[in-house]
Amino acid sequence: MKGIFITGEGPEGAGKTSILNRLAKEFSDKGYPILLTREPGGISIAEKVREVILDPKNTEMDARTEALLYAAARRQHLVEKVRPALESGAIVLCDRFIDSSLAYQGYARGLGIDEVYEMNLFATQEMMPDATLYFDIEPEQGLKRIEMHKGREVNRLDLEAIDFHHKVCEGYEILLDKFADRMHKIDASGTFEQVYEQAKQTFKEIIRAHGK
Ligand SMILES: Nc1ncnc2c1ncn2[C@@H]1O[C@H](COP(=O)(O)OP(=O)(O)OP(=O)(O)O)[C@@H](O)[C@H]1O
Ligand SMILES: [Mg+2]
Repeated sequence: MKGIFITGEGPEGAGKTSILNRLAKEFSDKGYPILLTREPGGISIAEKVREVILDPKNTEMDARTEALLYAAARRQHLVEKVRPALESGAIVLCDRFIDSSLAYQGYARGLGIDEVYEMNLFATQEMMPDATLYFDIEPEQGLKRIEMHKGREVNRLDLEAIDFHHKVCEGYEILLDKFADRMHKIDASGTFEQVYEQAKQTFKEIIRAHGK
C-alpha cells in the first residue's frame, strides 16, 4: 500500500484524541494527505455493530461476543475507509485500533492477548499498523484529566475501577515488548505542548522512514 497506517494508543485521558487532532490539523495544513479516523468511523454497518456492543440493555453480552463484535466493526471500517485511503497514498491516523482490543479484552478482561490477536488477524487479513504512537501515562493521571474536564470529583466508582485501568496499562506494556518494532512510546505525563512536541517529532520520523 502506498500510504502509512499510524495508530494512537494508551489509557483513558492520555491525550490520544487531542494530540492526534492537532497533528492531523498541522500536517493537513502543510499539505500532507492526512485521514484522521477512529472506529467505527461513520461507517454505517460498523456504527450498527457498535450500537449492539454499547447498548446498556445487552447485559448478557459475553466477553468473547464483545471481542468478536469489535473485530467485526474494525473489519468494516478498515475495508470501507482505511484501506482505500492507504491505497490512495494517505497517511491514516487512527485513534485506537487492534492494540486496544488486546489490552482491554485480551489482557484486562482476561480473554488472552494471543487469542484476541489471532481472531483480529482474521478480521484485518493480517493487516497491522505501520507504526503506533503509545501515549504513556499513569492511569490515575489520565482519569484525573477526564474528571477535571467534566468538572466533578473523582467518585467511588472511578476509584473502584482503577485496578482495571492498571491492568490495561500492564497489557499495553506487554504489547510494547511484543511489537517493539512499530511501537513508539511517548511520555504523556507533561503539559499538552510537551506531549505534542514529542508526538510531532516521532510522527516526522515515522513518515520520513516511509519516504514521505
Ligand atoms: N498533556 C495534557 N495535560 C493536561 N490535560 C490534557 C493533556 N492532554 C489532553 N488533556 C485533556 O485531557 C482530557 C483527555 O484528553 P483526550 O480526550 O485527548 O484523551 P484520550 O487519550 O483521547 O482519552 P480516551 O481514551 O478517553 O478517548 C481532555 O479534556 C484534554 O483536553
Ligand atoms: Mg479519545
